[in-house]
Formats: sequence, structure tokens, C-alpha cells
Amino acid sequence: MTDIADVLLVHGGTPLEGEIRVRGAKNLVPKAMVAALLGSEPSRLRNVPDIRDVRVVRGLLQLHGVTVSSGEEPGELVLDPTRVESANVADIDAHAGSSRIPILFCGPLLHRLGHAFIPGLGGCDIGGRPIDFHFDVLRRFGATIDKRADGQYLEAPRGLRGCKIQLPYPSVGSTEQVLLTAVLAEGVTELTNAAVEPEIEDLICVLQKMGAIISMDTDRTIRITGVDKLGGYTHRAIPDRLEAASWASAALATEGNIYVRGAQQRSMMTFLNTFRKVGGAFEIDDQGIRFWHPGGPLNAIALETDVHPGFQTDWQQPLVVALTQASGLSIVHETVYESRLGFTSALNQMGAHIQLYRECLGGSACRFGQRNFLHSAVVSGPTKLQGADLVIPDLRGGFSYLIAALAAQGTSRVHGIDLINRGYENFMDKLEGLGAHIELPRKDAEPAPAVA
Ligand code: EPZ
Repeated sequence: MTDIADVLLVHGGTPLEGEIRVRGAKNLVPKAMVAALLGSEPSRLRNVPDIRDVRVVRGLLQLHGVTVSSGEEPGELVLDPTRVESANVADIDAHAGSSRIPILFCGPLLHRLGHAFIPGLGGCDIGGRPIDFHFDVLRRFGATIDKRADGQYLEAPRGLRGCKIQLPYPSVGSTEQVLLTAVLAEGVTELTNAAVEPEIEDLICVLQKMGAIISMDTDRTIRITGVDKLGGYTHRAIPDRLEAASWASAALATEGNIYVRGAQQRSMMTFLNTFRKVGGAFEIDDQGIRFWHPGGPLNAIALETDVHPGFQTDWQQPLVVALTQASGLSIVHETVYESRLGFTSALNQMGAHIQLYRECLGGSACRFGQRNFLHSAVVSGPTKLQGADLVIPDLRGGFSYLIAALAAQGTSRVHGIDLINRGYENFMDKLEGLGAHIELPRKDAEPAPAVA
């Protein structure tokens, strides 16, 4: 159940037009903040967005004695780790369920303090999201893990040593776990089947600035030679390619035209190809990318999500809303998360025709094909969308509901909008700046959500 301040009224049917700016990537910035824990000097991180995931990590760092203050330019954080100390377990536990980033504190805390406590994790409900790879990795480095009711207690009685690791799947978080642990571990670490997302490359850049020795081969192999000591860094975070694609999808679904200042072609090439196949138009300049609907019908496509350089799973949900407006049958095969298509049932309530399947449709067989998960979709369009009562299920699904509500005729009540603050900076001001008709309901006028 959501509270009144967590509901947004969206009056749809108006194209989004204008300019917004994206800042540092949500999936890099909190990790670069954790990396500062490894240094013996202060670090400066620039282009930091004001989103909840950043606030959670800031709070956790401060509990461990890291001083976090604002730098000279807007969006700059100065992180001073010179007085890292053990934090009170109850204080850390207050952050339980808030994010998935705390798992990445393990390596740095084991190096700094010899022990770590990690509370229950949060993050989006888009699949089981296990952390078995993370713990396997940490054990390989020499950590011991004691799982208790309140969380995980880790120790490294004999320090952490480099090792050979092959990930069962190119997991982003597990690759980051290896990087953040290996840089100060004794000896060489060789990681195969690593994730190579642009945010990981940027984290490697951060660590290299601190003094780490890391090389990336072309075949998903990363080699890290441990060093004795790391310094601080000064770094400007790469822009958020996931947020940029969300606004691009909003432009397409609402027949609008949005200039996304900060968007970069290099990290969005796969998205841009797909956007063009669907019939969207874009124009790239040095400062950003303009996305628009050029008029006429949109094209149905076959889409398969994958690890980088494939089509990023976080791009899928917003683009599916635009696919409800394409002519014909689109096929979407989600291969990264087993349950990332559940959000489509609300789109159907609004008038979309989306059917989910357990089979791997339209492309290669994936890990989920034999496991009974509804992870493929057929989207039949175009369909007119009508306003509805919507309850946000997860971050990207939530933004997709906003897009659908903006593209729909009539008014939607979107419940649980606070979840969007986890990853979209200032999204309500941005929407208003693009001409969206949105309002927070009056306290005495809001009925309870229709969907639990
Ligand atoms: C990161 O999650 C991102 N989150 C996700 O973004 C993103 O969707 C994902 O990477 C893939 O790009 C952050 O960076 C905070 P994974 P992460 O480990 O690291 C399985 C968004 O909306 N797996 O690459 O948690 C897992 O279940 C969010 O911005 C295990 O089985 O993702 C999934 O199927 C959502 N065991 C697959 O690997 C493990 O121990 C990929 O997960 C770890 C992962």
C-alpha cells in the first residue's frame, strides 16, 4: 500500500517536448563511491546525480567513518576515507532492503578492517537476484562468511589473495565484486566470463586512477595485479545511458521530441540501432542526443536482451511501451532476468495486447527456457492506451508506467512513485519541463489504490 505523497496523477495524451539532462550513471556512481573506501587519500567524484541509491551509499560510507562532503562544482562529492572504522551492526542494519550496493562493501571492508557486516539487500523485484556468485568469489579470495538471521558476517583472517575465477554468467555485480576485492589482494587475479558493461569500464578507470593495475582482454577476461596501497581519484562519472534511453522511449511513445543533454552515442549504440529499427529518429551532437517520433507508423521488431554489448535489459521495459504503438507483432525475449515482464499486465489493463510465454521466442535459447519462467512476450500493436490505476513494481517498470500514462488518453493514478527516485533524478520537474500534465493529488481526494 502506498501513501498519498507517493501517488502521481498523470493526464495523458500530450507529446513530451523539450530538453532534459542526464547526469552520472546510477549503475556506476554508487560503486565508484564504494571504491573510495579502498584509498588512503580523499577522492572526488563528479557528475553525481541526486538519487536515492547515492544517498543510501553515502549513509553507509559515513557509518564506516568516511567523510562525505560537497565539492566545488554542483554534483561533486568529496569522499575522505582516512578514518575508516567498524560501524555498529544495528546502524548498518537500518539500511537493510534499501539497495543491492551494500554487497560491494565486502572486499573494501575486509581489506580495511579485516571484517564486514552486510545487511539484507534490496533492489528491484525482477527475478530471484541471488548473491551466490558474490560469496563464491569472496571465498576464493580467502574470506569466511557466516550467514546469520540479521545478515552476513565476513572475515578474512589470513588476508585476501588473488585467484582464478570463472563466473557462471557475466554478472555485473559479481565482476565489480572481483574488481573491488582484487585490487588490494596479494598477487594476480584472473577473471573469466566477466561482464564488460560501460559502467564496469568506468569503474576500472576509477580504480586505475587510484593506482590499480587492471587489464581487459577481448574475450571477457580481466586481469588484476594486486598492489599494496591505493590513493584517491578525481573522476567524472559516465552519463546514465539507461536513463537516457528511458527518455528516448518516452519521446517515441508520446509522439514527442526530447533532447537528452549528456546522452552519449558510444554507450548507447545498440539501443540506437533498435530505436531506429522501430522507426524512431535521433540526431547526435557533442552535447547529447535528440530523440523524436518522425510521424507515421512505428515498426514491430524482434528484441532480445543480453549482457553488453547486447541490448541492455534495463532498456527493455520503457521500449516495450513504445512497441505497443508499433504496427504488427513484436517479440521480446528477456534473457537477463527471469521475471522482468510482469509489468506488462498493467499495460494490458490500459489496452495493450501483450501475451507472455515460457518459451524462448524469437532468438537463441537462454537460461530460462527450461525453467518455467514467463520471460518472452509478443506485443501486438498498435493499441490505444487508456488511463488506469497503476502500482509501480520496480524502477524501470515504474518509469514505463509513467510513459504509458503519458501516452494514454485520460488520467492515470500512478502509485509508488517514490521508487522512481532510486534511479531518476528530479523526474517530476523534468516531466513538467517537457510539458507533461502531472499533479500530486490533494490529500482529501485520493482513494486507495485499486491494485495491491
Ligand atoms: C546490475 O545489477 C544493475 N544494478 C541492474 O540495473 C542491471 O539490470 C544488471 O546489472 C544487468 O546489467 C546495479 O548496477 C545496481 P547481475 P546486478 O549480477 O549487478 C544472476 C536497474 O534497473 N546472478 O549482472 O545485480 C542474476 O539473478 C538495475 O538499473 C546470479 O545468479 O545484476 C541475473 O539473472 C536493475 N547470482 C544475472 O545474474 C549472483 O550472485 C545478472 O545479474 C549474481 C547474479
